Formats: sequence, structure tokens, C-alpha cells
Amino acid sequence: MQQMILDVDTGIDDALALMLAVRHPGVNLRAVTCVAGNASLEQVVRNTLTVLDAAGAGDVPVAAGANRPLLADAHPAAHVHGVDGLADLGLPASTRQVVPLHAVELLRREILASPTPVTLVPLAPMTNIALLVRTYPEVLANVERIVFMGGSASVGNATAVAEFNTWHDPEAAEIVLTAGVPITMYGLDVFYAVTIAPAEIATLAASAEAGAQLTGRLLQHLVTVKGGEVRVAGDGHGDIGDAGAVCAAIDPVGLTTVHVPVRVSLADPLTRGQTVVDHRTAGHEQDGAADNSSRRIDVALGVDGARYARLFVETITR
Ligand code: BDR
Ligand code: CA
Repeated sequence: MQQMILDVDTGIDDALALMLAVRHPGVNLRAVTCVAGNASLEQVVRNTLTVLDAAGAGDVPVAAGANRPLLADAHPAAHVHGVDGLADLGLPASTRQVVPLHAVELLRREILASPTPVTLVPLAPMTNIALLVRTYPEVLANVERIVFMGGSASVGNATAVAEFNTWHDPEAAEIVLTAGVPITMYGLDVFYAVTIAPAEIATLAASAEAGAQLTGRLLQHLVTVKGGEVRVAGDGHGDIGDAGAVCAAIDPVGLTTVHVPVRVSLADPLTRGQTVVDHRTAGHEQDGAADNSSRRIDVALGVDGARYARLFVETITR
């Protein structure tokens, strides 16, 4: 059983990711930690608990973490995710409670308690994870890999060059990328490439089962949303966004990656939050510059979209 923890800013895509992680038979979702990002921390917590209800999750501990980035101001993305951060569907409030711990403490507890090393899947600005790295670096020994949604080796979405999560808290991203743990960057180069066909979305939305129905309705929202972010090609397919990073954590064979140094732009206002991917050294792990070798991570440049779409739909509807 794969031991997994999600760090989320639920948010539509994060809702899809939660649904997948809860329902996959090979995953033990040990905890969910919340951070400000797509929506305020309070909304993220509310949405996360609501989605866990719809997903039919057992007693998964949820904790609230950072309510703002380390240095920057918060910038919720209501234009994409709706005013409530969850497509304004008017979902019922959950009666679940968060655990009375800061997210960093819950992360520490669950990582240390895990019988096998944990896969940590941050799907949001990495403020909580950076705080964990700085506060309890020793727990990283029981982290198998960090598979994060964020960054880009090409274009950005929050700015011309920066992806939203790394742009929202660039300092946190830089701390995590240099933490010394194996890392997979599931960025914008693959983010939109796992899509669900219109007929399948309609079937999900019409389902009598709460989790499948919510999944379909959220995908429908993504298909119609406009704003700074172009989410669909216009043919009615909806991408599963952050849920693709959970697919990558479960089934890494579906990814094509390069193992190269990555830095986060911090000081330049024009490029702040950009993940600067040094493609020059791809395939030359042994003879790369020594000062960059510790910065190598696995950057996803390609994805088998059909494989992950199948994994997603089969898991949601099982
Ligand atoms: C990221 O920002 C949000 O829109 C998504 O949840 C994802 O984590 C994409 O840039
Ligand atoms: Ca997210």
C-alpha cells in the first residue's frame, strides 16, 4: 500500500485529486494538509472537508496550515475556481472537524508514523512543505518522494513565465526544491494533457453516486471557465489538472521526465516564481557542473494522457 499525504488548496483540481487519492485501492491517504492558494485558508479547509464527504473518505485527518505565503501576499484565483473556490455549486457544509494541530505538526506526525516511506504530493503553493523542511528536516528521511504540481519548463499561467503555485510562494518552492529529497515536478508542461471526453464528463455528472457526480460537475465547470487561464482546447474535453500529479505518484511509468537542475527565480520582478529548468545537462548526470548537481529533480515533459485519464475515471467510478 502506498502511503500518501496531499497538501492542497482545494480548489477544483485539488478536489479531483482528493477524490482520486481517497478512492484508489493502492493508496493509503494518511492525511490532508491545507494551505492558502486558489482560495483563502478557511475556504480551502471547508472545501477539503466537503470533498472528503463526497468522496466517501474514512477518518482522514485534515489540518490547516499557512494562511499566506512566506514573504509574498496571498492572491486567491476566484476567476478560475469560483467565489467559494469550488465552482459555486452550493455544496452542503461538512460536519467533519480539522485536527487541532498545525499542518506542519500533522505532516510530521504522519510521516514519522508511516510504516513505509511516504509519497508527499503538494498541489498548492508549497508554504506548508517549506515550513516542514525548515522545522523538522529529520522527518524527510521517511519521505520516499515529493511529487508536486507546480512550475513549468516552458510558459507560465500566473505570469508569462511563472506557474501559479511557484509564483504564489517562490521562496517556499526554492526551499523544497533544495531539501535533498527525490522530487518530481508535475508542471504546466503536462498539467493540461490529461483530459476527459465530454461524454464521459456528462456520464459522471449524471451519476447518482455523490463522488462521481461531483467529479463530473467540477469538470463541467472547468470546461466552461474563462479567465487568465485557458483550460480547454474548446472541444469540450476537461483536464483533470492537479489530479494528474496523483496519477504520477501512483503510476510514474506514465510520465516522461528529465533529471535536470531547477532553480526558482526570486529576485527579478519580471520572472519571479519561474522555475528555471537547465535542459543543457539532460542525460549528462555524471559530468554536470558540481554546484548544480544537488539541484537535479525529475521534470515531467511528457505524459501518457490516455493512461492517466483511464486511471482517473476507473478509480472514481469503481
Ligand atoms: C495550479 O493552480 C491552480 O489553478 C491549480 O489547482 C493548480 O494547483 C495550476 O497552476
Ligand atoms: Ca492546486
